[in-house]
Amino acid sequence: MIKFYIKNYGCQMNIYDSQRMADALTSSGYTAASEQEDADILIFNSCSIRSKADEKLFSDLGRARQNTTKVPVIVVTGCVAQLQHEEIMRRAPFVNIILGPQDIHHLLHYLSMPHDKCLVSVSLDATKKFACLPDNYSSRTISEFLTIQEGCNKCCTYCIVPYTRGREFSRSVKEIVSELRKLIDHGVKEVTLLGQNVNSYIDEDSNTDFAGLLETIATTPGLLRLRYTTSHPKHITEALARAHRDIPVLMPFIHLPVQSGSDIILKRMNRHYDRAEYMDKVAMLREYRPDIAFSSDFIVGFPGETDENFQDTISLVNEVKFAQAYSFKYSPRPRTGAALMPNQIDEDVKSERLQTLQTLLENQQKEYNAQFIGRQVEVLILKPGRYDKQLVGRTPYGQAITIESKDLSIGDVCTATVVNVEPHSLMGQI
Ligand code: SAH
Ligand code: SF4
Ligand code: F3S
Repeated sequence: MIKFYIKNYGCQMNIYDSQRMADALTSSGYTAASEQEDADILIFNSCSIRSKADEKLFSDLGRARQNTTKVPVIVVTGCVAQLQHEEIMRRAPFVNIILGPQDIHHLLHYLSMPHDKCLVSVSLDATKKFACLPDNYSSRTISEFLTIQEGCNKCCTYCIVPYTRGREFSRSVKEIVSELRKLIDHGVKEVTLLGQNVNSYIDEDSNTDFAGLLETIATTPGLLRLRYTTSHPKHITEALARAHRDIPVLMPFIHLPVQSGSDIILKRMNRHYDRAEYMDKVAMLREYRPDIAFSSDFIVGFPGETDENFQDTISLVNEVKFAQAYSFKYSPRPRTGAALMPNQIDEDVKSERLQTLQTLLENQQKEYNAQFIGRQVEVLILKPGRYDKQLVGRTPYGQAITIESKDLSIGDVCTATVVNVEPHSLMGQI
C-alpha cells in the first residue's frame, strides 16, 4: 500500500487543491498516511503570500530529508512551486516533482514516471485543471470549499498572487452546479465558494455574473448554507447586496478586505477604490441585510505609510465595526511594485502598528460577540467538541459556538441560546 501525506500552507484555495489531489490519489489506490513520517509520497502544497510562508517551506523541506526510515517521493505544489521552481531545485535538489497551482492535475501521471530527474510543470493556465482532475470524491465534511474561479487580474502592488496563480478564469455554471450536487451527495451541507476575487466571477457563455450564480445554485436541494470568499470591494454590486436579502441560504457574513483606511495608501496599493467607496459598499450591504457581519484583511507598514495614514485605518475600523479580521505586517515580495517603492517602513514601527490595530480588532470582536448574550442563534453542527457531549458548530455570522447535547449529531441544525462568550467563540445552550 503506497501512502501519501499532504502538508498544506496558505489560503482556502490551497486547502481545496489539496483535497482534490487527495481525491486523485485515493481514486488511484493510494492511501492517506496519518503521519508525515509514514508517507511514501510527501506533498508540500506551498504558499508565498508573505516571506515567512516561503521560508517555512524551505525549512520543512530540509527536515523532510532527515527522516531516515523512508525515502519518500517529494512533491512541491502551490504558489512557491510556481514562482520559485528553480530555487527549489537548487536549494532542495532531492525534490522529485514540482507543480504550480494550475498544474496539479498532472500529479498522477508524474508519479508514474521515473524520478531520476525533477519533473516540473508550471504553466499558469487554469483552463485544463478542473476538467482533468478525476471527479471521484473521497470523504467530505459538513462544510467544504468549492473553487469557482482561479487567478487574479487585479495586480495590487504588494501582492504575489497574480504571479503565482495567473489570470482570472471562471469555471462554468454547469460545472459548478454539478460539483455542488456531488458535494451534497457526499453529506456536505455548507459550501463556501472560493476565488481570489470571487465576486468578479463571470461565465461568459451563459452570461452569468456572481449574483446570478448565487441565485442559480441557492435552490440546490440539500444545500443549507452558502458562503463565499474573498470579495473585492470594487465588485460589490447592488444585485449582490440584494442577494443577501433575498436568498435564505446565503449567510449574513462577508469577508471584504479593505487593507488600509488611507486614500493615499489605497492608491499606491492599486486597490481600485477609495475609503468613501468602501464605506458606501458597507452601507449598501447593511441597507439590504442589516445584520450582515463584516470581516476584513489589513496590511500595516505599507511603504510610505505615515502615522497619519495609519490613523486613517484606525478610524475606518472604528467606523465599520468588524465582527472579525486578519491583519499583517507588509512583507516585500519579489517582482511586485511595492517592494521597489521608497520609504520602506522599519520592522519595529510595523510591529507597533500591528499591535495597536490587533488590540482594537480583538476588542471589536469581543464587543460584537458580547451583543449575542441571551440571543437565540441557528447553529450548524460541524464537529465534536473537546469534552464529552460537547459539539462545535457555526452561527450564520461565522462565529464558532460550542454547545452540549447528547441528542444532536454532526450535520444537525439547532437553535441555541448564547449564554457566554469567549474571545474567539460563543457558548450556547439548547
Ligand atoms: N484576494 C484577496 C486576498 C489575497 S491574500 C484580496 O484581494 O483581498 C490575503 C491577504 O494577505 C490580503 O488581503 C492581504 O491583506 C494580505 N497580503 C497579501 N500580500 C501581502 C504582503 N505582501 N504583505 C502582507 N500581507 C499581504
Ligand atoms: Fe492579491 Fe489584490 Fe488580487 Fe487580492 S485582488 S489576490 S490582494 S492582487
Ligand atoms: Fe498563499 Fe497562494 Fe493562497 S500565495 S494565500 S496559497 S493564493
